[in-house]
Amino acid sequence: MNDITSPQGFPRSYRIKSFGCQMNVYDGERMGEMLGAQGMAPAAEGEDADLVVLNTCHIREKAAEKVYSDIGRLRREDGTSPLIAVAGCVAQAEGEEIMSRSPGVSMVVGPQAYHRLPGMIEKATRGERVTDTDMPTEAKFGALPARRKTAPSAFLTVQEGCDKFCTYCVVPYTRGAEISRPYADLIDEAQRLVDGGAREITLLGQNVNAWTGEDAKGRAIGLDGLIRELAALPDLKRIRYTTSHPNDVTDGLIAAHGEVEKLMPYLHLPVQSGSSSILSAMNRSHTAESYIRVIERFREARPDIAISGDFIVGFPGETDTDFEDTLRMVETIRYAAAFSFKYSPRPGTPAATMEDQIAKEVMDERLQRLQAAITRDSYAFNTASVGKICEVLVERKGRKPGQWIGKTPWLQSAWFTGDAQLGDLITVELVEAGPNSLEARVL
Ligand code: 5AD
Ligand code: SF4
Repeated sequence: MNDITSPQGFPRSYRIKSFGCQMNVYDGERMGEMLGAQGMAPAAEGEDADLVVLNTCHIREKAAEKVYSDIGRLRREDGTSPLIAVAGCVAQAEGEEIMSRSPGVSMVVGPQAYHRLPGMIEKATRGERVTDTDMPTEAKFGALPARRKTAPSAFLTVQEGCDKFCTYCVVPYTRGAEISRPYADLIDEAQRLVDGGAREITLLGQNVNAWTGEDAKGRAIGLDGLIRELAALPDLKRIRYTTSHPNDVTDGLIAAHGEVEKLMPYLHLPVQSGSSSILSAMNRSHTAESYIRVIERFREARPDIAISGDFIVGFPGETDTDFEDTLRMVETIRYAAAFSFKYSPRPGTPAATMEDQIAKEVMDERLQRLQAAITRDSYAFNTASVGKICEVLVERKGRKPGQWIGKTPWLQSAWFTGDAQLGDLITVELVEAGPNSLEARVL
């Protein structure tokens, strides 16, 4: 038995802490809905929860150590702890070790098994310690309760897993093989999200543009077909999707950007490096040139499209020249936004044991230079938006009275003062640019 005191009976309150990507945020929401359906309520701000779920991320840097310190911090002053479940990708990758190192943890549940959490909680309240890192064939999503109230902008996971095996990446091991959720389930969930108040839906997947399915007439469709069908939902105003892989971009998806008004002019298309030889070592199966060509085609279809991306600096063997190629890629594309990371060796991935691992100081310096270039470009993108007239989807209140914050079609954060409600689309003129947001004036 644990060295902690478990709460008596089934827990009444829960707290879910999600780290990492948007899919974890989505998973956290779905776990919350499931616990809600079991009669549990979210713990109020600042109050202890009977059950804490740490929904972890394993993609970079000392994620596992962070989980252990988070677990430690959950111990209360009187020596008791809540019931603790470790979920997400660290759970998948290091479940056994977590169980042996952290006696306070009662449950370890992988990303493909969290629909089984209620049964695990029941066992845990009886003092059992349970691990479930199976990748079951039964449909996880089908076993979850239906969606209820949602924010103006909602996530919808349409695809999970990855078959690409980039040599640095842990995702194919933690999230498993690519699966596409069935079309009918997605239309149904989207409708429920819209009924619950969502005006924008972001379709999520590790390789979202690899989604395939059959429409209501049994015709094979890709992500562009799904987007076109969703665009027919009257109260859904905006559609986005992330994250895409350059090799799964289809002509249909590019065309959709020119034709489907509700599809927002924004594309997150990670490149990782501007050097084709590093891309080859990463097993990305595209080159710097083919990536640039893909972006050009999106821009032909939708000239104002905002491009964002991901970069890794300091991949094993990356020379100064390779890194200069990455800076040149930034110069060429002029990203509206981009995320950049230092390479982090992930246990079990091929790159972790490659020769020529790059020194930390070199990575630090490269990351700084890359981020300076990206910040310069995203500020320039915001500045170039001044004077544009567009709609802002109102997502939350600002700090000052009458102030609202929302998103432009290009995913910039914009604020204005005026009459509005959450979920409204307000027509504004963008009047002033900052590095991270824009001021808007209601028209
Ligand atoms: N080290 C650093 N960054 C990584 N990413 C994925 N794996 C690693 C790693 N081992 C980055 C990639 C990916 C984003 C989600 O995280 O840029 O696109
Ligand atoms: Fe990881 Fe590459 Fe798959 Fe993206 S495409 S999840 S980086 S393996």
